[in-house]
Amino acid sequence: MKKLKNKHAFVTGGSRGIGAGIALRLAREGANVTITYQHSAQAAEQQAQLLRDSGARALALRADSNDPQAVRAAVQQAVQHLGTIDILVNNAGIAFYDDFMQLSLEQFELIVGVNIRSVFVASQAVLEQMQAGGRIIHIGSCQANRIPHPGGSLYAMTKSALAGLTKGMARDLGPRKITVNIVHPGPVDTDMNPANGPMAAGQIDLMALDRFGSVEDIAALVAYLAGAESGYVTGAEFTIDGGTNC
Ligand SMILES: NC(=O)c1ccc[n+]([C@@H]2O[C@H](COP(=O)([O-])OP(=O)(O)OC[C@H]3O[C@@H](n4cnc5c(N)ncnc54)[C@H](OP(=O)(O)O)[C@@H]3O)[C@@H](O)[C@H]2O)c1
Repeated sequence: MKKLKNKHAFVTGGSRGIGAGIALRLAREGANVTITYQHSAQAAEQQAQLLRDSGARALALRADSNDPQAVRAAVQQAVQHLGTIDILVNNAGIAFYDDFMQLSLEQFELIVGVNIRSVFVASQAVLEQMQAGGRIIHIGSCQANRIPHPGGSLYAMTKSALAGLTKGMARDLGPRKITVNIVHPGPVDTDMNPANGPMAAGQIDLMALDRFGSVEDIAALVAYLAGAESGYVTGAEFTIDGGTNC
C-alpha cells in the first residue's frame, strides 16, 4: 500500500541531487509533489515528468530561495494547483568553503538567505494552511556539529542554526500535531559534492563505511519522517553519514 497516498509534498531544491531523490521517493510512496529550483529549468521539468511517470501529480516552480517573495508565491501556487501541503522538505541549500578571514559580508548574507531565511519563510507560508498530521523536515548537514576540514565556518553555522530552529518549531507546533525534524547527511554523491571530486578521498577516510551516501539513502530516512509511523518523532536530529568521525 502506498503510505503517502493523497498527500502533497513540497520539496525545495528538487531539480537535482538530494532534493530530486527525496521528491522521487515521496512520489513513489504515493504523494503528489511540488519541487522548486533556481536555475535548472530543464532538469526541473525532467524531474517533474519522472514524478508524473511514477503516478504522481507534479509541479516544478522556479523560486529563488534567497527571495522571500518568490518562496511565498511558490507555496501559494503549489496550494492552488495540488491542494493543501502536508509535507514540507526544506532541502535547497548552498555551500562554499573559504578561510574565515577571506569571507565577505555578501557571502554571509547569501548563505544565510538561502540556507536559513528561506527555511523560516517557507515554513511560515506552508504552516498557514498545514493541517494536523503535517510534517516538516529540514535538511541540515553532519557539519552542523563537526567540521573536518578548514573553511566551512559559514556553512556549519547555517546548518547548526537549522538544528536550533527545528527544536523550537517542534515545541511550538506540537499542539497542532505537526512534527518538525532535521536530517543531517554526511557526504552524498551530488553536484555539490561529487564522489569522484578532488575532496572525496579526504571525506571517505573519515567514514566507517567507505563510500559516499546516495540520494536514495537520504530519501529513505526522509520518507520515514514524512509518513504516519513517525508520528511520535519531533524536534529530533538524524545523522546519516556512514559513520563519519572527525
Ligand atoms: N551533497 C552532500 O554531500 C550534502 C551533505 C550534507 C548536506 N547536504 C545538504 O543537502 C541539500 C541538497 O544538497 P545537494 O548536494 O543535493 O545539492 P546540489 O546537488 O547542489 O542541488 C541543490 C538543489 O537546490 C537547488 N537550489 C540551490 N540554490 C537554490 C536557490 N537559491 N533557490 C532555489 N533552489 C536552489 C538547486 O536548484 P538548481 O538546479 O536550479 O540550481 C538544486 O535543485 C543542501 O541543503 C545541502 O546543504 C548535502
